[in-house]
Amino acid sequence: MYKIAVLVSGSGSNLQALIDNIESGFLNCKIQCVISDKPGVFALERAKKAGIDTYVADKKEYKDELSDKILSLIDGKVDLIVLAGYLSILKGKIIEQFKNRVINIHPSLIPSFMGNGMYGLKVHKAAIEYGVKVTGCTVHIVDEGTDTGPIILQRTVTVLEGDSEETLQKRVLEEEHKALSEAVKLYIEGKIKVQGRKIFVI
Ligand code: GRF
Repeated sequence: MYKIAVLVSGSGSNLQALIDNIESGFLNCKIQCVISDKPGVFALERAKKAGIDTYVADKKEYKDELSDKILSLIDGKVDLIVLAGYLSILKGKIIEQFKNRVINIHPSLIPSFMGNGMYGLKVHKAAIEYGVKVTGCTVHIVDEGTDTGPIILQRTVTVLEGDSEETLQKRVLEEEHKALSEAVKLYIEGKIKVQGRKIFVI
């Protein structure tokens, strides 16, 4: 059985989409565990309700050791690491050991509105202020940078006149929930081929 670890930091709506898609049979995999870098977040409640093992590796406690702590929790136990609203940066051994097997969902069409400080509503505020007509979300491989890894897939969302960050975020999240599960499915089925910055679905 293909096993994934899901890393979270907040509400966990992307995690919930994975849980729902496993229950529906769209995804043939098991969520081995959910790890949060912050205690008390709703994503942990979602995991517990679904009977999934949870851990809190508190970023305030582990600081620069956070990535190594997470690696110690999952090493040898999962095939893929999925960042689903996870806000800390993974670095060091975990990125090497899980090369091309850590993926992240970002709420914009990378390379727009990405990088340090670009998360949550800030991303949608920047898109609205820039005046883009189309935004969306990106699932990408995680490398040592912030939102810089090769792109697996993207989904687009039209920006409507009068959109607020909140109304835009809501529509983008709906696409994120589809995109992340589509990307996980490609991994489960062994259809991802990475060539430098390019990813091919074989
Ligand atoms: C989402 O917009 C995701 O793209 C970003 O964090 C936000 C929160 O997601 N990385 P979730 O509801 O916690 O899954």
